[in-house]
Amino acid sequence: MTAGGLVLGIETSCDETAAAVVAGGRAVRSSVVSSQVDVHAAFGGVVPELAGRAHLELLTPVLAEALARAGVGGTGLDAVAATVGPGLIGSLLVGVSEAKALALAWGVPFVGVNHLEGHCFAALLEHDAIEWPVVVLLVSGGHTQLVAMEAPGRYRLLGRTLDDAAGEAFDKVARFLGLGYPGGPAIEAAAAAGDPAAFAFPRAMLDDGLDLSFSGLKTAVVRAVRRRPDASDEDVAASFQQAVVDVLVVKSVRAARLAGARGLCLAGGVAANGPLRQAFAGAAVELGVPAHLPSRAMCTDNAAMIAAAGWWQLEHLGPTPLDAGADPDLGLPLVG
Ligand code: KG4
Ligand code: ZN
Repeated sequence: MTAGGLVLGIETSCDETAAAVVAGGRAVRSSVVSSQVDVHAAFGGVVPELAGRAHLELLTPVLAEALARAGVGGTGLDAVAATVGPGLIGSLLVGVSEAKALALAWGVPFVGVNHLEGHCFAALLEHDAIEWPVVVLLVSGGHTQLVAMEAPGRYRLLGRTLDDAAGEAFDKVARFLGLGYPGGPAIEAAAAAGDPAAFAFPRAMLDDGLDLSFSGLKTAVVRAVRRRPDASDEDVAASFQQAVVDVLVVKSVRAARLAGARGLCLAGGVAANGPLRQAFAGAAVELGVPAHLPSRAMCTDNAAMIAAAGWWQLEHLGPTPLDAGADPDLGLPLVG
């Protein structure tokens, strides 16, 4: 493929239907994300059956829009990349089947991309001259991991949550407080008007290694609200958010020191959180390394990160066979 090769990316692993065209793994020509929030909001969370059906309806118009905005037809593309896991199997299959069909019709390679690796590429897309290794704090709705990224494609797991993912904790606490779905942005908005010191919520395993735990925090929030039913949602949200941010930043700094990181990188939906971004950037300054923060739109699920990861993968590992399937439990490909 040429250096400026055009990759169409498709992302349908959860509740965003997304397509994007990226040139040379870096220049985003178009990125279209259609959220299914309205479909799932009434249920307070993603309903897998409904997600799959919504992807089926939305993918064709989303694809058409991404190609139109990029000003390119199928025959102008060099590859089609799609998320093959982890995610909801019914949703993954919609994107994977479409990507394979288009690759076949247009006579270009298909590339199956790991969603978590896609998140790691989101920051790379927007930053030049990254020095390796970087420590990536990958915080999404389904995953919370600290990873030493030694180079694109080389990941070493340093720590992970032992129970809930950080985004899951935001979603569960938001649901408990009746703040709506998705929980992360709702908590952040409420927290802006609250006192982060109103409640002394626990910072689990703060002095203990690189693994994390959030289920106790969620329980502490429930107990505190039952004890003080008059407490303001804003204060509870702000105190909860502060507890999550404190733990994530302390663990990231510890991981960066241990791994000799030359940069700190945020990835995944929770990376859109303002106070986390601010604290993370401050920690990087203290460590004397750059912070690579993806723009907010690039933190949450999108297809530009999938196209970027797909371009790198095609260049270095080659295309994915058309008979390869989707894997709902796929993990980051780890070394060591
Ligand atoms: O990466 P993502 O879009 O999807 C997954 O791969 O899971 O992450 C979604 C998660 C949700 O749990 C959502 O509540 C959280 O990211 N999130 C946030 C914010 N925006 C999204 N959490 C905290 N603050 C935000 N502003
Ligand atoms: Zn994601």
